[in-house]
Amino acid sequence: LRFLINFFFPLLSLPVSGPAQVRLVNGPDSCTGRLEVFYNSTWGTVCDDHWNLVGAHVVCRQLGCGMGLSAIGGARYGRGKDPIWLDNVQCTGMEAALSECRARPWGTHNCGHGEDVSVVCSGAPTPGEIQVRLVNGSSSCSGRVEIFHNGSWGTVCDDGWNMTAAEVVCREVGCGSALSAPAGATFGQGAGQIWLDDVTCAGTEAALSLCQVSSWGSHNCGHREDAGVECSEPTQVRLVNGSSRCSGRIEVHHNQRWGTVCDDGWDLADAEVVCRQLGCGTAVSAPGKAMFGQGHDPVWLDEVNCMGTEGAITECNLKRWGDHNCKHDEDASVVCSEITPFL
Ligand SMILES: *[C@@H]1O[C@H](CO)[C@@H](O)[C@H](O)[C@H]1NC(C)=O
Ligand SMILES: *[C@@H]1O[C@H](CO)[C@@H](O)[C@H](O)[C@H]1NC(C)=O
Ligand SMILES: *[C@@H]1O[C@H](CO)[C@@H](O)[C@H](O)[C@H]1NC(C)=O
Ligand SMILES: *[C@@H]1O[C@H](CO)[C@@H](O)[C@H](O)[C@H]1NC(C)=O
Ligand SMILES: *[C@@H]1O[C@H](CO)[C@@H](O)[C@H](O)[C@H]1NC(C)=O
Repeated sequence: LRFLINFFFPLLSLPVSGPAQVRLVNGPDSCTGRLEVFYNSTWGTVCDDHWNLVGAHVVCRQLGCGMGLSAIGGARYGRGKDPIWLDNVQCTGMEAALSECRARPWGTHNCGHGEDVSVVCSGAPTPGEIQVRLVNGSSSCSGRVEIFHNGSWGTVCDDGWNMTAAEVVCREVGCGSALSAPAGATFGQGAGQIWLDDVTCAGTEAALSLCQVSSWGSHNCGHREDAGVECSEPTQVRLVNGSSRCSGRIEVHHNQRWGTVCDDGWDLADAEVVCRQLGCGTAVSAPGKAMFGQGHDPVWLDEVNCMGTEGAITECNLKRWGDHNCKHDEDASVVCSEITPFL
């Protein structure tokens, strides 16, 4: 009966109530690992049915761990212990906590621990680091722009703020293209420092802090001028037509469409980033020439240039989406060291 109910009503579910604590365990740091959630005085796991990157974003934000880089099923970071608290989790991206996402009732599932969910986040900023996040938007890819500098989060003033700057921010936070660049604290007023003012971007910068800006903290603004952005959905990455989810032709999801990456300049450092982003260990090879078959249009990226240390391919040096001189017999592929099952 449970099978039949689940088969015909996989999304028949109740919203879970109250913010429950979450943690990531058994990974290299507290921002990567198997997802566990605390309910009824017990830590339990989350099943990978319907699990996706939007849920990972919510978890990473709840933990103060930056953006979600990947949502992995198949117990990539080991099998947890009972209970399996959540199944069929479906987040919209605007939830402040995992327990605000829709899911089946607590403890109701059809899973085993071989399906435990793991999450890779971009990580909390270290004191010397500069990081950007979007706050209080209607999805994980919109909101007030906040920038971490000198140990604290602050905002950006809307003087000079426009679509070119928004484009840079969207790319930096791993989202798609910029849809708008709202000014005047559209997403509410921030607090603390107003870190940047009079931002002027050329559009090709890899990060907002590389645009021409006022010096840190020097401005003539109030928080009622806080800048925001709205971007299209996060860029997802997958490897297709290989023997596991950790090898195959690389495809990226942008503007609602999956597309390929051209092999011009494609190398092991680029593959390294993809393997890390997918939670697939390190790169073994970076084959070109459509080694795992030819994909379909669009060719989204060409001349990808990563250092190898980036957390996501969108943090690498990229040309504009769709700007290329390639055919699909040049599709790039990746082979990673880990072999984990498909979601
Ligand atoms: C919560 O814990 C109590 C005591 O351990 C147990 O009796 C009860 O069944 C649990 N509730 C759920 C929903 O698992
Ligand atoms: C950075 O923080 C330190 C200590 O909190 C402070 O003394 C210094 O003035 C800050 N620098 C800027 C540019 O805000
Ligand atoms: C969130 O944004 C809304 C406007 O969309 C604003 O009214 C509210 O104050 C904001 N909340 C925070 C915490 O910034
Ligand atoms: C944004 O402002 C910069 C600097 O003033 C300018 O070069 C750029 O063309 C503007 N972009 C748009 C889309 O208006
Ligand atoms: C999968 O890859 C093989 C080569 O390894 C290729 O012959 C085949 O056409 C590919 N299939 C798809 C659907 O891409």
